[in-house]
Amino acid sequence: MSYQPISDHHEELMQRIHRDLIDSYDEELEIEFEDREWDADGQPARVEEDRDARRRYFRELFRLQAELVKLQDWVVHTRHKVVIIFEGRDAAGKGGVIKRITQRLNPRVCRVAALPAPNDRERTQWYFQRYVSHLPAAGEIVLFDRSWYNRAGVERVMGFCNDDEYEEFFRSVPEFERMLVRSGIQLVKYWFSITDDEQHLRFLGRIHDPLKQWKLSPMDLESRRRWEDYTRAKEIMLERTHIDEAPWWVVQAVDKKKARLNCIDHLLSLVPYHDIPHPHIDLPHRVRHEDYIRRPV
Ligand code: ADP
Ligand code: AMP
Ligand code: MLT
Repeated sequence: MSYQPISDHHEELMQRIHRDLIDSYDEELEIEFEDREWDADGQPARVEEDRDARRRYFRELFRLQAELVKLQDWVVHTRHKVVIIFEGRDAAGKGGVIKRITQRLNPRVCRVAALPAPNDRERTQWYFQRYVSHLPAAGEIVLFDRSWYNRAGVERVMGFCNDDEYEEFFRSVPEFERMLVRSGIQLVKYWFSITDDEQHLRFLGRIHDPLKQWKLSPMDLESRRRWEDYTRAKEIMLERTHIDEAPWWVVQAVDKKKARLNCIDHLLSLVPYHDIPHPHIDLPHRVRHEDYIRRPV
């Protein structure tokens, strides 16, 4: 596979990288930053259009995040247990949606499990063992940023597991997930889907953006070379692990923002939450300084 040298459409790329850089900033900061950027540019029509689209995005995101707070309340109140798995190719945007889901939530209720490659000790354990310790207790939500599905994806494609381990994984996983569901866990599985071109652009962004360079791993570069292998591995995985108790949901993720909104909206539709009434809160009166800071005489 060969790609155009960067200089051929340098300007376009830089704009794209710039847009992505802005996108990665904290939401509130982001609005200000871009408004100022475009004002200085003096392109009013474009500014208005961009601003409108951004406002609509933020308004919808904030609405969904407020719903997530209600969902959290309900989970705590009803002692529900939720596991959400985020899978997809490198740079598909899993991290971005996870960040927006957790942004307004209590980290003690809603946690993220993003496990590193297994260490030597873990490699000798039952494959699912190290994931099990991260499963939720009552009233908790756990978001898996990649999951046990590594065995069907990266491990298969990169050769980190052998054929027997790969086959055993597919024998185990439906049983394993049914056990989780029978134990009272609601299990939701998302596959973030991006195109070949989009992944290429996102990796370029990672190379050029100092704030994103840490995200670019040797594994990512290899996954570019093995795009076709990943496609095959993904198809097999989705087909063999799509069970009634825990079906896959495919999120179209080339448009990052739509993907985030759609995913959160969909997640909200899967959990039967409702408003939990709260007792009226009276703020205690503050103590006046004079009451506790005095001169000794
Ligand atoms: P990420 O995309 O999650 O930031 P990487 O691209 O570096 O991280 O790796 C992709 C996945 O491959 C990770 O979940 C990582 O744990 C897994 N992985 C990397 N090396 C190995 C290995 N030697 N054996 C098993 N899994 C591995
Ligand atoms: P298969 O299950 O043989 O159809 O292979 C699924 C995908 O994994 C294909 O894209 C293969 O190229 C890749 N693959 C097959 N065997 C291995 C292996 N031993 N190690 C790594 N990748 C493999
Ligand atoms: C993503 O964008 O999907 C996540 O950041 C995972 C990755 O590092 O590729």
